[in-house]
Amino acid sequence: MSDAQRRSYDTLFPRYAVPFGQEPADFPQLFGNDNPLIVEIGFGMGIATALIAQAHPRRNYLGIEVHRPGIGRLLWEIENRRIENIRIIEHDAVEVLEKMIQDCSIEGFHLFFPDPWQKKRHHKRRLVTRPFTDLLAVKLRPSGYIYMVTDWADYGDWALAELSATPGLINRYEGFAPPQLWRPETKFERKGLNKNHQTYELFFTSGQGEYLYRETPDLSG
Ligand SMILES: C[S@@+](CC[C@H](N)C(=O)[O-])C[C@H]1O[C@@H](n2cnc3c(N)ncnc32)[C@H](O)[C@@H]1O
Repeated sequence: MSDAQRRSYDTLFPRYAVPFGQEPADFPQLFGNDNPLIVEIGFGMGIATALIAQAHPRRNYLGIEVHRPGIGRLLWEIENRRIENIRIIEHDAVEVLEKMIQDCSIEGFHLFFPDPWQKKRHHKRRLVTRPFTDLLAVKLRPSGYIYMVTDWADYGDWALAELSATPGLINRYEGFAPPQLWRPETKFERKGLNKNHQTYELFFTSGQGEYLYRETPDLSG
């Protein structure tokens, strides 16, 4: 952790972090409003998280991450950009979903470059795998969305198969989605692009209805 990250972590964590607990959290109370709630799993350094939240002040963002320097960095962004609509949980996302998130309550899930677990014997550790995708689907409100991006082709194919097989989810595109222009580049993505990696985007919704992210600002840079 850098000194700045440590300082932000120590001073801002109590204000913006939600302690992990065994009971469903009361998000309207935590945010002070009942705006739609979007959950980002594994935000890394959180720069994209901060930019998206800043561009959409009438939506709430819950970032779940286990990497403490990244949490310190996002807290620093929250303070510097005066962002009010982000809260953080420092814990394993699977347990957070199981315990703290009510069914049918989430507007969207963002999974930007989840760990690809490249070796075949590690594939079972991939997050975007059933039954975890079933849990995501159960937590979504009608017309809620799951937006995943990876730069690992094999994980892209894998996730496409797993999400397509998940009851209640509908792929809004044929195969991979076109780049969603409201998503800023992430730190991990930049590293891959510098090595000429390609990006694979997946966009699924729960039901066929209109979903939230239509016609929103272009943050793709
Ligand atoms: C490859 S990094 C991508 C980070 C960021 N989204 C980006 O694109 O720069 C994956 C991140 O997911 C986090 N992560 C992995 N498994 C997790 C879990 N079960 N719960 C919460 N975070 C997790 C890791 O700590 C890591 O920061």
